[in-house]
Amino acid sequence: MRMPTASHRGCVRFPGLLNDYSGSLPALLIAVALVGGACGAGNAKSQDEFPVPDSPAAPPAKIVIPPEGEPGEPLVISGMIYQSDGRTPAAGVTLYLFHTDAKGIYSPDQEEGKPPKPRLQGWVRTKADGRYEFRTIRPTAYPGGDTPAHIHAGVYGRGVRYWINDYWFADDPLITAKQRKRVNEPEGSGKVIVTLERDDKRVWRGTRDITLKKAETTP
Ligand SMILES: [Fe+2]
Repeated sequence: MRMPTASHRGCVRFPGLLNDYSGSLPALLIAVALVGGACGAGNAKSQDEFPVPDSPAAPPAKIVIPPEGEPGEPLVISGMIYQSDGRTPAAGVTLYLFHTDAKGIYSPDQEEGKPPKPRLQGWVRTKADGRYEFRTIRPTAYPGGDTPAHIHAGVYGRGVRYWINDYWFADDPLITAKQRKRVNEPEGSGKVIVTLERDDKRVWRGTRDITLKKAETTP
C-alpha cells in the first residue's frame, strides 16, 4: 500500500491512482475530487473539472461526522454561509467536508490503484438562517509530512459548486511564518486559518464564515 503524499502546497496525491483505476464512475468522481479538488482549490478550471460530491441524502444544518468512539480530540466548527453580498444568509447550500483521522490518514484500508475513500466525511446544508455546524475530531497531519492538519471543504447549491479553501488551525506548528503571512494577503495561500479554543469540556471550538461567489452555473 502506498500512502498519499503531500506536496509543498498541501494537496494530497495518490500515486498512480488515476492511471490504473478502472472502478465505477461515482467512485472515480470521488477519487478525482480528492486528487484534483483537494489540490486545485481556488482554481476555476479545477472547480469545473472536479465537482464536489453530492450528499447521499438531504443533510441537516448540524452534523456529527465521526462514528461513536472515534479516537481524537473533539472539535466543533460552526459558522455562517452568506450569499455573494457577504450579508444575506444563504439557505439551501451544502457544505461537504472530509479530513484525516487522528493518525493523519484518510482510510486505513486504502488499496493501491483504488479510489481513496475518506472515512471521515460529512455534509451540512443550511436552512434560512444560513448557519452550519459540524462536530468531529481534530484531524492530524499526514504521517511524516509537513502539510498542516486540515479539513477539505466544498460548497454547492444556489448556482455554485466548487471547492473552498481548506480549514487550517492557528495553533498548528506546521504552519510556517510565511504561510501565516500569506494567508492574510488578498487571495491568501488557498487556506483559511481558524483559531480554536477549548471549552470547559475540552472540546476544541472554532468558527468560519463563508461568502459564496456569484452564481455562475446551475447546481
Ligand atoms: Fe488533504
